[in-house]
Amino acid sequence: MAVLCPGSFDPITVGHLDVIRRAHALFGEVVVAIGNNSTKSYLFTFDERVELVRDATADLDGITVEAMDGLLVDFCEARGIPAVVKGLRFGADFDFELQMAHMNSGMGGIETVLLPAARDHVTLSSTIIRQVIRLGGEVSEYVPPNVAAAIERKRAADGS
Ligand code: PNS
Repeated sequence: MAVLCPGSFDPITVGHLDVIRRAHALFGEVVVAIGNNSTKSYLFTFDERVELVRDATADLDGITVEAMDGLLVDFCEARGIPAVVKGLRFGADFDFELQMAHMNSGMGGIETVLLPAARDHVTLSSTIIRQVIRLGGEVSEYVPPNVAAAIERKRAADGS
């Protein structure tokens, strides 16, 4: 069965990658959907995020990465995907995920499976990682190697 792992992935972290790998181990086929969250200001462009997630998951058969423009339920319906898999770190995640889960279930009959974040990843946050990157800090422990390399290239291009 194919499931959807949606997110902004700006940038993809080792925590996201762990959830994608576990969804792949459970369900065999995973579509990773790169979406835009209108409340966030992005560091990497849509195309860069798609490319970085593709590279980070290239070793696994059965994972495809696509850009998602519009509603998640429409994206799933067009591909016959019945369920979404998301990681859950702490209570605030749960509150938000529950709201989205009911909305996606109500609008499109899409189920949501929540996987508890691995203990090492419960405090990881793309928002904080993005802030550290912007301020010149070191984040290679928290992101896949291809993302660490992309950050270095971005810094070199910006002269920072
Ligand atoms: O990594 P993020 O920022 O938490 O990802 C949020 C994302 C992209 C998964 C969410 O904004 C989303 O599902 N966007 C698709 C648009 C949509 O269907 N919105 C209503 C969700 S209930």
